[in-house]
Amino acid sequence: MSVNVAVVGATGLVGQTMLKVLNERNFPINKLYLYASKRSKGKKIKYQDKEYTVIELTKENIANDIDIALFSAGASTSNEFAQEFVNKGAIVIDNSSCFRMDDDKALVVPEVNSETIPDKGIIANPNCSTITVMPALKYLSDKYGLERVVYSTYQSVSGAGMGGLNDLDNNLKGEKSQKFDDQIAFNLIPYIDKFQDSGYTKEEEKMINESRKILGLKDLRVTATCVRVPVRYSHGVSVNVELKKDFDLKDLIEGLSKAKGVVVSNEIHPTPLKVEGKDETYVGRIRRDNSVKYGLNLWIVADNIRKGAATNAVEIAQEILKKREE
Ligand code: A2P
Repeated sequence: MSVNVAVVGATGLVGQTMLKVLNERNFPINKLYLYASKRSKGKKIKYQDKEYTVIELTKENIANDIDIALFSAGASTSNEFAQEFVNKGAIVIDNSSCFRMDDDKALVVPEVNSETIPDKGIIANPNCSTITVMPALKYLSDKYGLERVVYSTYQSVSGAGMGGLNDLDNNLKGEKSQKFDDQIAFNLIPYIDKFQDSGYTKEEEKMINESRKILGLKDLRVTATCVRVPVRYSHGVSVNVELKKDFDLKDLIEGLSKAKGVVVSNEIHPTPLKVEGKDETYVGRIRRDNSVKYGLNLWIVADNIRKGAATNAVEIAQEILKKREE
């Protein structure tokens, strides 16, 4: 079955990677529509052996034969346009934070909750750091139960789009940041996104709330500190977990290594550079935390642009096709 696909934000870092992943997976595309802002109108983008002209995103320009639209152009663009695509018959997979916490929208990591994917409307792609930890936590939750989770993230500059990558490069040439509030080269910025009244940042609240929604544990005790690090691609997350029951570490590692979407890499330590370009989540440094009853420490890394964004969105699209074909 071939379908008509739109990529909204096709000139951006995630949009470009969506096209790369669609191509790698030979996604059965009939017609392809590439949308971006007015700035990119008329720009040419090659996909497989054909050249496509970027279309300015306006309500009038939304084609009425789109089956699946992959959005990665920021929350305000999604807010303004996603429903318009749905009204014209498309199913939207949205990479922004716009719809993630809506009760009537599925928030999907296919390895974890593909059964929640609807056959119409808007589906939300989770935050990149949330996606990184979900496959491993799903396994631990099902097998042992989760009592409490503490996240400390080490997030690459590409999480802030092209602007984040440019800041790192420009800082290295002695220039000031434009995207970040501070210099990121040779530095760490101990917050990501806007501060909330709680003292947490929006990024931290996303990780907390999205974890609860995806795992279906609305009362899960979970906290997060999100930090920007001077790394180009891949986010690392130090995860401290208290399980509900005791475990044999060897059995736990063996089980985790068989979990969907997880690669256990306890000897070859997962680093951002090693994981860049990969589609799985890499788990290492698995060890008991003896400071609490059934404690466990993990270090998890995933490519934030691929599994953390583009790959996850394309995998949702693949699930939709699979369901339609059944
Ligand atoms: P454009 O390249 O025309 O600005 P990144 O996060 O890497 O910066 O990418 C953001 C993506 O979202 C780009 O493709 C960008 O297009 C697109 N985008 C940003 N604002 C809009 C908008 N108002 N309408 C459509 N696309 C937008």
